[in-house]
Amino acid sequence: MSEIESILKEARSFAPSEEFRARAIVSTEEAAERSYRESIDDPEAFWGRVGRELPWLTPFERVLDWSAAPVARWFEGGRLNASAVCLDRHLETERRDKVAIRWEGEPGDERSFTYAEAQAEVCRFANALLARGVAKGDRVAIYMPMIPELAFALLACARIGAIHSVVFGGFSAQSLRDRIEDGGCTAVITADGGWRRGKVLPLKDVVDKATAGIASVHTVMVVRRTENEVAWTAGRDVWYHDAVADASPELAPEPMESEDTLFLLYTSGSTGKPKGIRHTTAGYLVGTYLTTKTIFDLKEDDVYWCTADIGWVTGHSYIVYGPLACGATVVMYEGAPDQPHPGRFWELVQKHRISVLYTAPTAIRAFMRWGDEHVTKFDLSSLRLLGTVGEPINPEAWMWYRRTIGGERCPIVDTWWQTETGAIMLSPLPGVTSTPPGCATRPFFGVDALVVDEEGNELGPNQGGFLAIRKPWPSMLRGIWGDDQRFVDTYWSKFPGMYFPGDGARRDEHGNFWIMGRVDDVLNVSGHRLSTMEIESALVSHPAVVEAAVVARPDDLTGEAICAFVTIGSGQKPSPELIEALKGHVSTEIGKLARPSDIRFAEGLPKTRSGKIMRRLLRDIAARREIADDTSTLEDLGVIARLRDESS
Ligand code: WTA
Repeated sequence: MSEIESILKEARSFAPSEEFRARAIVSTEEAAERSYRESIDDPEAFWGRVGRELPWLTPFERVLDWSAAPVARWFEGGRLNASAVCLDRHLETERRDKVAIRWEGEPGDERSFTYAEAQAEVCRFANALLARGVAKGDRVAIYMPMIPELAFALLACARIGAIHSVVFGGFSAQSLRDRIEDGGCTAVITADGGWRRGKVLPLKDVVDKATAGIASVHTVMVVRRTENEVAWTAGRDVWYHDAVADASPELAPEPMESEDTLFLLYTSGSTGKPKGIRHTTAGYLVGTYLTTKTIFDLKEDDVYWCTADIGWVTGHSYIVYGPLACGATVVMYEGAPDQPHPGRFWELVQKHRISVLYTAPTAIRAFMRWGDEHVTKFDLSSLRLLGTVGEPINPEAWMWYRRTIGGERCPIVDTWWQTETGAIMLSPLPGVTSTPPGCATRPFFGVDALVVDEEGNELGPNQGGFLAIRKPWPSMLRGIWGDDQRFVDTYWSKFPGMYFPGDGARRDEHGNFWIMGRVDDVLNVSGHRLSTMEIESALVSHPAVVEAAVVARPDDLTGEAICAFVTIGSGQKPSPELIEALKGHVSTEIGKLARPSDIRFAEGLPKTRSGKIMRRLLRDIAARREIADDTSTLEDLGVIARLRDESS
């Protein structure tokens, strides 16, 4: 298979309005083209100039060292601190008293922090961590609801040079434990709970389960949010409000080397355990800063809202580091989009006069399903720019977003990137790019993207293949925590000399990139990547299950739904109760996100002669499609007929 068949045809295209273009940070095609050419032909000149826009404690000496490829070294010789880039730099300007974070809790409570207040809060937090013995280079796990202290926790770690490892608050105790152990974390920051759909998520309880017996965790710092009762381990646990009560609101930022690790963030792969993606300080900040500024076209008076959770990379890069480095006013919301009513997001847009909105296709599809009446009763005239991220957006959802949310006046930036890339890689520039619905369009500055066949040969227009990237870029991952070889094997071995993101793509006759989804088995549910292997392991850990294979089937709401084929032990009987038990089991083992939509009992699973499960076949069965694959390598041909009968 050297190409991926492309079936999507789209002739519509929307140019930005003259009014938008005239005010845009990048406002002419010539300027965009000139910058792009320079970024490719002379990356050191281009990125050196952007790098110098950040505040350095010691200026860098060299822009890029690629001699130890595929591990890049950017801005060597320089020293800086991420929390100072995001906060301190604004305190000498008029932004000192500008709102940095405007937060709303799910129950409707509100808090806001100016840049000066946020900086004082972060310093107190950092001092409290230091007082507990957290030191530069230590790993700190963060497992929190979407409250301002979550953003402050990241920045407080950064201020003292501790490496944060945020684990999304929906993950189970076992997943949290695996990540704490893999990273060798010595402290955990959490909260008593968080609000989600009117209920308290008992986060501290999960942390207690996750850390039981892990002696290396000497501190669990707990922010009070929901006031539910929590168990307490004396000596280890400390309330945040007690810890910061006497802490000084001042602390000089730790001077970090450009290539010092800023954070780890775990991402699921197609095989094996989650990978701790490692990002470093300077390149990551330069990348998130420039993409935020130019793709979200941020102006001083914008009110910017990215609806992601900080537990995912989108929240790291486009709630915390990018927008704060730009000095933006960032809206943060704790809860669910339909709490207490399906128009909550639009009520927030109206109330806070939000001008730039960045959300996910899965959310957009949910809003479409809930009905326009929940949108149209709110005044969305403050919006001027919309964005999407996380999975391919289908053209009809894009059109709905443009029409119903954007009032046909807001450009949409469909941004393609990954945890590994750190920052946006493909996206329209909102003031210049004509955008077809559902298209991520063009490579960002410095991104040398192409579409190749299985052998790494560049494909021509409209030929679907593998997306690849030829040159290093500042915010690229520097490795996988504790596994250098896996870093090389996963990203740099398929096409020598090129980064392989694992997505399929096609480039059209205008040079626009269309992303065609993952080329491997990773599931993408509601914009989140989940590994089939992790879900299968969870299923097989249930006593009734012998074997499991998990595949995606298309789903209108979540993009993809999880369909699990399971073989149960003799003596076990398929039943609706068992289906519920298995779904519940997966939820507790690895988290609700991974809960299968369908469980289908199978007598046997289709395998190759070497014993590998043929997931592509299962995908066809799950979607009730004709089987397109060559079945001649199948171990037992009869298995297909039996699976079909059982699932109809
Ligand atoms: C997918 C999220 C199509 C893609 C920032 C990628 C997209 C994976 C888009 C990374 C998009 C993300 N169009 N697909 N605009 N954005 N993806 O690491 O498959 O959670 O490889 O990072 O999501 O997911 P991750």
